[in-house]
This record gives sequence, C-alpha cells and structure tokens, in this order.
Amino acid sequence: PFCFADGQIISSEKATLHPMDLGLIRGYGIFDFFRTVNFKPLFLESYLDRFLASAEKTFLPMDYSRAELRAIIHELIEKNNLKEGGIRMVLSGGVSPNHFSPAKGKLFIFAESLIFPAQEKYDKGIKLLSLEYVRPIAEIKTTNYAYPVWDSMRWKDAGAEDVIYHMNGILSESSRSNFFIVKDGIISTPDLHVLMGITRKHVIELAGDVQIRPISMQEALNADEAFITSTTKVLLPVTQIDEHEIGTGKPGSVSLGLLEKFRELEK
Ligand code: PDD
Repeated sequence: PFCFADGQIISSEKATLHPMDLGLIRGYGIFDFFRTVNFKPLFLESYLDRFLASAEKTFLPMDYSRAELRAIIHELIEKNNLKEGGIRMVLSGGVSPNHFSPAKGKLFIFAESLIFPAQEKYDKGIKLLSLEYVRPIAEIKTTNYAYPVWDSMRWKDAGAEDVIYHMNGILSESSRSNFFIVKDGIISTPDLHVLMGITRKHVIELAGDVQIRPISMQEALNADEAFITSTTKVLLPVTQIDEHEIGTGKPGSVSLGLLEKFRELEK
C-alpha cells in the first residue's frame, strides 16, 4: 500500500517517525478517519473541517491547505485502488526541544482495510460495559486512547462488545463511538465531553429533532432503545448495559429506521 509521508506519496513500509516525536513519547497528536464508498470519500469536507480544527486547537502547525489535503487523498484512493476502505490522517506532536511542548508535527495519510461489525450484531444488538472515565479534551480528535485501549482488555470478560463511559452517572460516549437513547419516540444524545462525531451529526440531521443534553445512566437503563454511531459502525443498536436489558432487549424500530435512512446517504 501507498501512504503520504514526508511530503510525498511513498510505499507505506518506507514511512518513518522520529523516536522522540511527542506522538510516541507523550501520546500527543491528532487524527481523523473516514471511509470511501465506491472510490469516493464519504462526507470528506466534514472530516477535513474537523481535522483542521483539531490541529488548530492542539497548537499543531498544519502545512497543508484543505485543497492540498483533498488532492493527496484523491491520489491515494487512486494509487491504492481503494473502492471500499478507510483513510486515516494523522498529525503527530512533533519533535519538541523540551520533549513536552507541542512542536511541528509530521503528517501521515494512509489507507486501511475496514473492519465492520458482523451482521449478527446489528440483528441482535450489543452489550456495553459501563466504566467511570471521561476522555480528556474530548471535543478534539486526539490520538490519546490509552485508557480505552487498556480497559478494552476487560470488555470480553464482561461479555461486552464495547464500553459506555460516565462520570458520576452522567454519560458521555463509547470508546470510539457516540451514544444515543430513544424514549417515547424522543431521541437524545449527550452534549458534553464527547467527540462531535460526523456520523452523530448526520444522524441528528436525519432524525430532525434530537435533544442534545446531559443523560444519566438511570435514564439510559430505562430507555426504550439505545445505539452507538461511528464511521465504521454507522449505527449499531445497544440492547444491554452491564446486566440491564434496554427496552425489549431487541434492536428498536427508531434505531433501525435511522440506520436505513443513513444507508441511503451512502448511495
Ligand atoms: N472513532 N467518539 C470517539 C471517541 C471516536 O474515536 C469516534 C470515532 C467517534 C465517532 O465519530 P465519527 O462518527 O466521526 O467516526 C466518537 C474512529 C472511527 C476511530 O477511532 O478510528
């Protein structure tokens, strides 16, 4: 596969990172991740908006304009013959003179094969394990996933597919997805300490009327339906949190209706 590194498109094995880069020694950097559908990047401008905003908010200089990034991405799709795949853009924290302050990072753009959840998970819904945690600077798409990567080793023992994070009983998001509930036909999603997911944004638009507000764990356990959204999962029904069944314990009609509507946007 080909990737973009050191200002050019090269074979991915040739890409290098300085060992003192803050991305490696401090976990400081930003990224974004989108899909191609039939060789076309889905919602590219929204992902570029977020990526450029992340760079600015983390004080990392970005040497490439939106138009340049777009051109590199299109060239990579062509070179990698990426019909249905993922593209990740990463801007590292850079090599810092004091090994701490944000520096001039290195930009990588590369193709990834997509790992979609099995159809069975959409049919049956998934279980989430609740854990107390809040992502640091959650609104920014940083590469800091140390706690989620670490706690993922506990999900399987709990029979859970993923996690729902809360702080003092107020929910935020899952490890790599946003969270929604449905109660009496009203759709709600947490407002604070969450990434402004591109899938979340489109689901909010499709639903038309979504309450964006604090949601307690108690409320989620009493909901009729729940689901998570992300670029790769799109919309995955949640039918259990810890030992509590959500609603009927089966994926709900509002969730499945929204998933169907989203599939239309992909065409
Ligand atoms: N994750 N919240 C977090 C913490 C995420 O990492 C992601 C995306 C989302 C969903 O955002 P979007 O709908 O824009 O994908 C929410 C990506 C897929 C990843 O970790 O690779």
